Amino acid sequence: MKKIFFILLASSLLFACKQTNEYRVISKVPDLEMPNNHLKFKEIEDYKNYKIVSSHFRTDKNELRYILANDIAFKAYNEGTALPNGSKIVKIGWNVEKMSNFQAALEAKKVQRIEYMIKDTKRFAKNPGNWGYARFVKKEKKYKAWDKGTESCISCHNIAQKNNYVFTKLQPLF
Ligand code: HEC
Repeated sequence: MKKIFFILLASSLLFACKQTNEYRVISKVPDLEMPNNHLKFKEIEDYKNYKIVSSHFRTDKNELRYILANDIAFKAYNEGTALPNGSKIVKIGWNVEKMSNFQAALEAKKVQRIEYMIKDTKRFAKNPGNWGYARFVKKEKKYKAWDKGTESCISCHNIAQKNNYVFTKLQPLF
């Protein structure tokens, strides 16, 4: 009897450890939605747990970008398969400034935008590649949903048609 009790105790402790190892960030995102396609900021509320696929720097906008993928998209990226339904790709853009204590280095300062693409064959059946687009721009600490429509997103992402309308490739890590 005692033995069983200890086995149960040990396994529940192990289970608890496993749980705490899986640290996930829960963030409260603004309650905003795109006026044209009704995509909400909330659809990516767990984006801080997404994995980095790539980083880009827009020289004309002096903006550093990180591209993050949810588990579905990250798996496809790593296996070299097409991004399936349910894929979410997030882009975060920061302005950059010289590091105060090391002028030759630039560091990310303020987040200027968070935008994403979501692949949904039902909701975006009519969009190329079935991608839906959302952009939330940050000014003076407040986010605002992009109100100029998503036609321009779609037409520029057409440049990447051969890559399923996605520009980002997996950035080599070694
Ligand atoms: C004039 C061209 C252009 C327009 C307009 C545009 N994008 Fe992009 N987008 C790019 C390029 C180039 C990249 C890759 C480089 C980078 O990270 O900026 C990109 C990357 C992305 C990514 C990361 C996945 C990928 O394709 O690499 C997302 C998400 C994204 N854009 C969302 C949007 C949304 C949302 C809009 C509209 C509100 C939009 N884009 C409008 C050119 C454009």
